[in-house]
Amino acid sequence: MEERRGKNTQNDERIVFDGMTLPEFVPLKKDAKKRFEEIKNLECRKDDVLLTTFPKSGTHWLWEIICMLLKGKAEYVTEAKTTVFLEAIPDIRDINDLPSPRTLNTHVPYRWLPKQHVENGGKIVHVIRNPKDVAVSLYYQFKTSGRIPEDCPFQTFLEQIFLGPACPMGSWFEYVKEFEQAKMTDKCDSICIVHYESMKKNPIEETSRLAKFLNVNLSDQQIADIVDKCSFQKLKHATETLKDLSHVKKILVIGEGAFKQPPNIYRKGEIGDWKNHFTVSLSEQFDTIFQEKMKDFNVQLQFE
Ligand code: A3P
Repeated sequence: MEERRGKNTQNDERIVFDGMTLPEFVPLKKDAKKRFEEIKNLECRKDDVLLTTFPKSGTHWLWEIICMLLKGKAEYVTEAKTTVFLEAIPDIRDINDLPSPRTLNTHVPYRWLPKQHVENGGKIVHVIRNPKDVAVSLYYQFKTSGRIPEDCPFQTFLEQIFLGPACPMGSWFEYVKEFEQAKMTDKCDSICIVHYESMKKNPIEETSRLAKFLNVNLSDQQIADIVDKCSFQKLKHATETLKDLSHVKKILVIGEGAFKQPPNIYRKGEIGDWKNHFTVSLSEQFDTIFQEKMKDFNVQLQFE
């Protein structure tokens, strides 16, 4: 398992580890192997909740919902998700000082999740989003943070980055397949799969299901309040006004080819924006790739 530096389509140095291109976070740039091993060997607590997502699948949204559920009230936490983002925080030992229950979050693939958490049957909330919308969301993240030129066409991004070796955290398909395999062998029901689209369409039902999984007992009104506080507009506003995001710049590698500025997380928050970016032919090509790569897997997706 070696770490190496490679060139990507943007002609910059990319961080590659264990077959994946990694997001440009300072600890990964410094020593990716060290950080991945720190994550794998993390000391976990029985009541930790681990939120696992491929980038751009709705991590911030679900993180806020889980935090409110565990708090037992519809109240924003003033900390940002990035303070418990395992591969990005400057010193991973800092999470030892946090009070329980902790909602940790990561984009690392299943094989790199904290061993202790997995072996103890610790709770994992895994979010899946239609990869076409993930690709569009990542396209804008790359554009707004300056990692691809402003005029880069979506198709170029899709073919050269999202479907190529430079996609951050490796291939979406491999990432999702690994979790699917883990779910199939999950004897203690420790993995709860949440579909972005279901959460968007049926937020009350999905949040109640999540509460049950987390053993949280709240009234219908409390669930409705949490759903409301975590709606796209309210969460965007709360993030802009309540949270101290000054540390975010420190966890990103800022420079040529890397982040030029922090990404804008709350962009549209909708299902199906892919239809505004994929031509019919591009969408069909994507479907063919999807069917080929996922043929032995029963990943339920909401392709609408
Ligand atoms: P878009 O770029 O399609 O708008 P992540 O947190 O994993 O980086 O994912 C970011 C995506 O989740 C963005 O998608 C963002 O707008 C969306 N998102 C964030 N909060 C949301 C919410 N409350 N409801 C729906 N989508 C949300």
